[in-house]
Amino acid sequence: MPSVLPEGEPVPADGALPPSAFEGAAARPLGFYLHVPYCATRCGYCDFNTYTASELRSSGGVLASRENYAEALAEEVRLARKVLGDDPRQVSTVFVGGGTPTLLPAADLGRMLAAVRSEFGLAPDAEVTTEANPESVDPAYLAELRAAGFNRMSFGMQSARQHVLQVLDRTHTPGRPEACVAEARAAGFDHVNLDLIYGTPGESDQDWHASLDAAIGAGPDHVSAYALIVEEGTGLARRIRRGEVPMTDDDVHADRYLIAEERLSAAGFSWYEVSNWATDPAARCRHNELYWTGADWWGAGPGAHSHVGGVRWWNAKHPGAYAQALAEGRTPGVGREVLGAEDRRVERVLLELRLADGCPLDILAEAGAKAAARAVRDGLLEPVPYAEGRAVLTLRGRLLADAVVRDLVD
Ligand SMILES: C[S@@+](CC[C@H](N)C(=O)[O-])C[C@H]1O[C@@H](n2cnc3c(N)ncnc32)[C@H](O)[C@@H]1O
Ligand code: SF4
Repeated sequence: MPSVLPEGEPVPADGALPPSAFEGAAARPLGFYLHVPYCATRCGYCDFNTYTASELRSSGGVLASRENYAEALAEEVRLARKVLGDDPRQVSTVFVGGGTPTLLPAADLGRMLAAVRSEFGLAPDAEVTTEANPESVDPAYLAELRAAGFNRMSFGMQSARQHVLQVLDRTHTPGRPEACVAEARAAGFDHVNLDLIYGTPGESDQDWHASLDAAIGAGPDHVSAYALIVEEGTGLARRIRRGEVPMTDDDVHADRYLIAEERLSAAGFSWYEVSNWATDPAARCRHNELYWTGADWWGAGPGAHSHVGGVRWWNAKHPGAYAQALAEGRTPGVGREVLGAEDRRVERVLLELRLADGCPLDILAEAGAKAAARAVRDGLLEPVPYAEGRAVLTLRGRLLADAVVRDLVD
C-alpha cells in the first residue's frame, strides 16, 4: 500500500456508495484487507504507511495507540456492514498487513478477524493471512493465531545473508525466517509464504542463490520475490545519494530474476504473477488474486484503499486522524473515484498482463493490439496463448513486464 494518497472527490460522511457499486456484486468475491500501521523500527527501504512509537508521539497521535487499535479497526468493519447494507456475500479472504501486524498481541488480531466474522461471516474455505516479521512471533503466538482462525502466514524474510539484512535495516538474524516456517507448520498452518528482496546494494549473485536455497529449504508453499525499489524520501535513497551504498542496476535485477525463476521452478514452484510463485494452484494467495482480477475488497485501517464495483476510496493516512473519524461516527475515507469503463479496461490490462493466465486480447485497444502482435514477434508474449486470444508474458517478457504493459495499455 503506497504511503502517498491520490487526489479524489470527497467521500460522504456516512461512507455511502453509489448504487452502481452494487451492480453484479453477487458474482464477485469480497475480501477484507486489515492494515496495522505500527513497526518497532523503520527499515531504510520501506515506504509503507507505518509508524514507530516515537514517530507517533512526535506527530501527536494520542488517539492512535496500539492498545486501542483493534477496537478502532473493528469499528470500521461495523461501518462496512452498514455501507454494504444487505449485501449477502460472505468474506472469502482476509489479509492482515502492515506495518508489523504481529507487534499487536495475537488476541488483537483475533479480535479484528472476529469483527469480520460476526458482521459478514467467513466462507467455509476462507483464506485468512497475516504478515509477520520473523523476530516478532514464537510458537505460542502462532498457535494463538491458528486457534483464532488464521490459516496462512506470510513472513518477511528478505535475505539469508547478514550483510544484506543489515543494509535493509532488518532486525532478525539469518535462520530465523526458516525457523518461523517450521513453527508455523507445527502450529497447523497449511499455507506459508516467504517474502524475498533481490538487488540490495552489496548483494552478490551468490548471496541471492543462498537466500533462495534457504527459503526453498524451509518448505514454504509460496514465495514472493521483489526487486528492491529505492523509494524517494526513504533512508536508503538518502544513503545512496550520499554515496554510502551503491545503487544496483536493471541488468543485475534481470539476472537475479532469472536466477529466482530457475531455482524456484527446479524446486517445484510455478510463477502465477510476475513476483509470485506457488507449489500448486491451491497455494496461490487468493487475496492478492482478488486485487489482480478487479474483485471487491474493503481495506480497513489508516491509508487503506478499498474497491467495490468500480468505486475506489482511501482512508486518512495518519492513525490519529483515522481513529478520530471513527470515534466521531464518520467514515475515515478521505477521497474516492468512480472508475469509468475506460479506467476499468486500463486497470485490467495493467494487472492481468502480469498474471500467468494473462489478459484477453479482446480488451486491448487498437494500438495495444498492434503492440501485442509486435511483442509476440519480439519474443515477449507466448505465441500459443496469443493464437487462442490471450496475452501471456514469456520469461523475457516478465523481465520487461513494465515496458510491455506500457505498450499494450495504449
Ligand atoms: C508490507 S511489507 C512488510 C511486512 C513486514 N512488516 C515485514 O517487513 O516483514 C511486505 C513486503 O513488501 C516488500 N517490500 C517492502 N518495501 C519494499 C521495497 N522498497 N522494495 C521491494 N520490496 C519491498 C518486502 O518484501 C516486505 O516483506
Ligand atoms: S518492518 Fe516491514 S513494514 Fe515495517 S518498516 Fe520494515 S519493511 Fe516496512
